[in-house]
Amino acid sequence: MPKPFHLGWFVNFAADEWNAPFAHGGYPWDGQFYVDMAKAMERACFDYIMLEDTLMISEVYGGTNGAYLRNAIQGPKGDPSPMATLIASQTTKLGVVATLSTMAYPPFMLARLCSTIDSIAKGRFGWNIVTSGEELAAQNFGLDHLPERQDRYAMADEYVALCKALWASWDKDAVIRDRETGAYVDATKVRPVHFEGKYFKSRGPLNCVPSPQHRPAFVQAGGSPRGRQFAAETADSIIAPSSGVAGIKAYRDDVRARAAAAGRDPDEIKVLFVVAPILGETDEEAFAKFERIRNSPHYIERALAGISAITDIDFSKFDLDKELPHLTTNGEQGSLDAFARWGSGKTLRELVMDQVSRGIDGLVGTPERVADRLQEVMEEVGGDGYLITRPYTTHINRRYINEICEGLVPILQKRGLTRTEYTKSTLRETLREF
Ligand SMILES: Cc1cc2nc3c(=O)[nH]c(=O)nc-3n(C[C@H](O)[C@H](O)[C@H](O)COP(=O)(O)O)c2cc1C
Repeated sequence: MPKPFHLGWFVNFAADEWNAPFAHGGYPWDGQFYVDMAKAMERACFDYIMLEDTLMISEVYGGTNGAYLRNAIQGPKGDPSPMATLIASQTTKLGVVATLSTMAYPPFMLARLCSTIDSIAKGRFGWNIVTSGEELAAQNFGLDHLPERQDRYAMADEYVALCKALWASWDKDAVIRDRETGAYVDATKVRPVHFEGKYFKSRGPLNCVPSPQHRPAFVQAGGSPRGRQFAAETADSIIAPSSGVAGIKAYRDDVRARAAAAGRDPDEIKVLFVVAPILGETDEEAFAKFERIRNSPHYIERALAGISAITDIDFSKFDLDKELPHLTTNGEQGSLDAFARWGSGKTLRELVMDQVSRGIDGLVGTPERVADRLQEVMEEVGGDGYLITRPYTTHINRRYINEICEGLVPILQKRGLTRTEYTKSTLRETLREF
């Protein structure tokens, strides 16, 4: 039997496709489009839907918000917490992950929010722990500048420690609902935390009941060495950009080694790599789609605006037909490295053209052909699975969701490669099932 792998989906509560033949309307703000998507994913037995989030309208590309708003790139976005709650209430098995930034929420608020959603989700909630990586997001929260990466992660370490203390401020069995004594809570099982760190201070205890998972499942994406370290120490699942098969194998080996060095069992961490398969009834049809995306009139602008937004580097300033100079950023360094493939000798135009299916080649074709490639790559890498997302610069539509959930996944399932049923009730248990 082949070793099975996990599936998640990376999506934002953002406009779905509005300007192409299979567009649904592009106005998903009542959440129903994403509820329908989650139901399709649940039929296909995905581990989780991961709702990405950022907290600004970008102006990095060309120094204006024009490319962003015209193309609906990195915004507008709805808040992922109510969306996650709605999805949780309309599904029964699928894990639901929301991105919540340590820059944006006071830790007490976040700990309570996660507990509340995990209770509503009956133990299926996950928190994608991000520190935010954009100057403009920082300015929306009253900061003049984004703190340096090292400081953001130092704050995140302490932030997570405080949240864990708050979740632990109630014992799992503190709620007794004892008819004889009339007590709702056993008061001896709830206590303050008196947390005083360098950045955060909170008295505690939390003022909501312990949720089924007690703490949410932790999802993290660490790209830089510091980010990987944080993820290796903290995460139940890591989401990672793909940068070729050797690149993702090295990434996974590295976070597993860091986890082991930190005293964790590396198998407790499921590393899912971002991929955007392009499917067709025939290989020719899929390749035609692939070419259509790459050759669409705004492809380059959209792709560069997207990568500019998350790296805080204005890519309109570079010559498309030259190699990039080596760049560093206080934004998403890992995503920059995965995009730029330093030393590959590729021009910026070639790098952009490589991005359509997000960093692993061979994911264009019939469901059978793509399943072959996904299987082959996982065998080479050793695990743990994939995070599906839409091809670069496209907006999600129902047809793409169906192609994945009803075209590709059933083939993976038939081969014993992905889950065919949910046997556990919480997201953390689901992740650890294999
Ligand atoms: C697949 C993936 C998804 C991410 N999702 C988000 C997100 O939703 N919101 C966000 O602010 N950052 C997101 N990030 C950025 C990470 O949280 C992190 O800031 C980034 O990987 C940079 O980390 P590094 O500085 O350690 O490289 C994501 C990164 C990756 C690779």
